[in-house]
Amino acid sequence: MKVSDRTHGVEYAIRDIATYARKYKASGREIIYLNIGDPVKFDFKTPDHIKKAMVEAVMRDENYYAESEGLPELRQAIVEKESEKGLSVTEEDVIVTNGVSEGLDMTMASIVDPNSEVLMPGPYYPPYASYTKFYGGRPVEFKLHGDGKPDLEDLRARITPRSRALCIISPNNPTGEVFDRKSLQQLIDIATEHDLYVICDEIYDKIVFDSQFTGIGKVAKDAPVILLNGFSKAYLMTGWRCGYIAMNSNSKKLAGFREDIPKLARVRIAANMPVQIAAVQALRGPQTHIPKMVDKLRARRDYVVKRLNSMAMHCKVPRGAFYVFPKIDLGTRWKDDQQFVIDLLKSTGVLTVHGSGFGSTYGSGHFRIVYLAPEEILEKAMDKLERFMSK
Ligand SMILES: Cc1ncc(COP(=O)(O)O)c(C=O)c1O
Repeated sequence: MKVSDRTHGVEYAIRDIATYARKYKASGREIIYLNIGDPVKFDFKTPDHIKKAMVEAVMRDENYYAESEGLPELRQAIVEKESEKGLSVTEEDVIVTNGVSEGLDMTMASIVDPNSEVLMPGPYYPPYASYTKFYGGRPVEFKLHGDGKPDLEDLRARITPRSRALCIISPNNPTGEVFDRKSLQQLIDIATEHDLYVICDEIYDKIVFDSQFTGIGKVAKDAPVILLNGFSKAYLMTGWRCGYIAMNSNSKKLAGFREDIPKLARVRIAANMPVQIAAVQALRGPQTHIPKMVDKLRARRDYVVKRLNSMAMHCKVPRGAFYVFPKIDLGTRWKDDQQFVIDLLKSTGVLTVHGSGFGSTYGSGHFRIVYLAPEEILEKAMDKLERFMSK
């Protein structure tokens, strides 16, 4: 029977590649999973006070539907967090979602029309393109300079009357690049000049290694900024699915969006109730696990980058998040990056993600490694990669 044409464009390389791994595993061989950015699958665990808040909420029978916009206490705690980062925001500007993923879906649903274009830095986190396509739009990649700063000329050249939004993902997945204040300011200026929504994903705001993180709120002024953030990474709540949309309260241009987003929030009823109660504790409770996590990740990043460099695999040093995105010297051995990733899996059991899954223009010819695993696992994976490359 007929299925919708819309769904054909939906891809998620990070999980799509796992189907190959399942076949490999069925043959009884061991897999080293370096494909999914889930810290809780490794040695980063949800802090006890957050788990306790969740369990107690369940046991108190707070298991009913929450308000569609989100639990008022959580929305208030989010206002405090995002205000500290510089965004002008009130409780009315916050919608709690089942993860940033749902927030992104709702955002694209309310701003993308058929044939409208959404600008995103290449390479990009795949759902930005998938949701754009799902709602009939076209993802348009713009270039970054070698130092990870946006190439403003390239961006300007890609703006057309159909451009609707500019996405900023900082720190970035898959490259770990972090935009500095000046770059953010330049992006906001261009978006303002061309009447573009600014969709800014700050899910890795707490996972930055070498520089200060600057929130988009610091430079947003009255620009139509839609901030996406959540609890998966810094608060180690990946499986619980909690995130939010926060709108710049200074922006008059967001009036239509502000009116429509709560409708989408109501039609999907609400975000998970006990998880929202735990999320309040995540924001208000002790934050001590975060610097410990960042220190551990910095050491793992340094180790993986050192090993890749010693194999002459070129990669930029990631400044945030937990991914590294090396270039592959394909030569005549591999047709493309996907074939490289599958060959690496079949030969060694090391599962990574092909770069073209993060955009054909800037992702192709690369692969993404997640460096969340403990050093002994990373060492094993790097040894296998080294042997594989020297074949
Ligand atoms: C940039 C970015 N945004 C959003 C997400 C998904 O977030 P959530 O778990 O809140 O849906 C990820 C997960 O890897 C990500 O890398």
